[in-house]
Amino acid sequence: MSTLTVPYLNIADPEFAMDSEAVRAARDANWYAETNYGLAILSYEDNAALMKSTHFIQGSAQWPEHNGVHSGPFHDWWKENLLVLEGADHDRIRRLTNPAFSPRKIKKLAGRFDELANELIDNWIDRGEVEFVNEFAAPFATRVLCILLGIDEADWVKINDLGSKIGAALGVTFKEEQESIDAALTELQEYGAALIRDRQENPKDDFLTRLVSENRDGDKLTDAELQNLVVLLIFGGMDTTRNQLGLAMQSFSKQPEQWEKLAAEPEKYAKNAVEEMLRLNPTTRWVTREAAETFEYKGLTIEQGTTVHMFTMISGTDPEAFIDAEQIDLDAERAPNFAFGGGVHNCIGQFVARSDMMAALPALATRITDLQIGNATWLPDSGNTGPENLPVRFTKR
Ligand code: HEM
Repeated sequence: MSTLTVPYLNIADPEFAMDSEAVRAARDANWYAETNYGLAILSYEDNAALMKSTHFIQGSAQWPEHNGVHSGPFHDWWKENLLVLEGADHDRIRRLTNPAFSPRKIKKLAGRFDELANELIDNWIDRGEVEFVNEFAAPFATRVLCILLGIDEADWVKINDLGSKIGAALGVTFKEEQESIDAALTELQEYGAALIRDRQENPKDDFLTRLVSENRDGDKLTDAELQNLVVLLIFGGMDTTRNQLGLAMQSFSKQPEQWEKLAAEPEKYAKNAVEEMLRLNPTTRWVTREAAETFEYKGLTIEQGTTVHMFTMISGTDPEAFIDAEQIDLDAERAPNFAFGGGVHNCIGQFVARSDMMAALPALATRITDLQIGNATWLPDSGNTGPENLPVRFTKR
């Protein structure tokens, strides 16, 4: 056993906040903490060492049951999705899905992401204020997925509505909202099925056609697997990107000199601007794992079945790993962050997310300045966070 004092964090407490002195103090005291749901890994070094460990599985398969949901469309969809599949089943779907996400192919969409960002900014730039979530981040994130999947962009409101309803399954009201979650999931599955049929019958030079036609040694994704995946891509890509853009505005509003630096040389700094947001203020505050077997790490026995939360934000601001860790520094060379997780379950959409945010942040920085955040409302600062509503006042350049 470790001889250091082990801090305790009550991560179920409604008052718990990842961005807090209590969590920073825990990290500065020890590399891990005990929580009411297993362990939390706090230091950068140990997140880096354990994030890809093969002693762990992703471990969210029982999420519906833990919330009292034992059947129904969401339950059945969840059990089959890439995020919770393990071992050979996971590897197979990943192998058949990865080529569609080839960075070279996704890169071709960058120009369209840039146009989209500017089109949205045009709608409100003359007002000097914007409700950033609903007038930029949500339409941007959803329309990016429409572009990727070849969905008519005019349908974004519908996709956003269905995706948000399904997203409630990750919250505390899952059981109460099961009926609406199941109805939204069924509608999105039908929507996805029609898209898939269309590409099977009328192949195009696009992402979905690549996904539908990928064939490895005679193995292909089945229609049911494709349908499941389309729903997962919307589910996994929409709220995350929306939240991350809101968090980026929050961070840059506190460091206007870095916003000016990005505005002055957007091509030079776009990449680091995105990486600094992901390191300093990630929407995925933690990534969850479950020990698949009992093992020893640094003298600590981690028993099979233990839930382990990899604390991404607090490891990304670990002063042992980063100079001026709590500050955006667009010129710094930083070690990799864990906002997209790591190991076999790492975010398959990360190149899409990086490309679209590398379009969004420079478009914003080059067109608006003097960011002033108004009275925002926020999701709880645990698991996944971000603003629900983010009024921003600014000066048009
Ligand atoms: C800022 C945006 C995003 C963030 C912060 C994010 C974060 C994450 C994280 C933390 C994971 C789990 C990684 C792990 O357990 O190691 C994940 C998995 C996943 N993400 Fe993302 N994501 C984003 C955007 C997207 C987009 C745009 C898509 C789809 C186009 C997507 C699709 C997925 C999928 C399918 C998985 C499951 C992968 C697997 O289990 O093999 N994500 N994401």
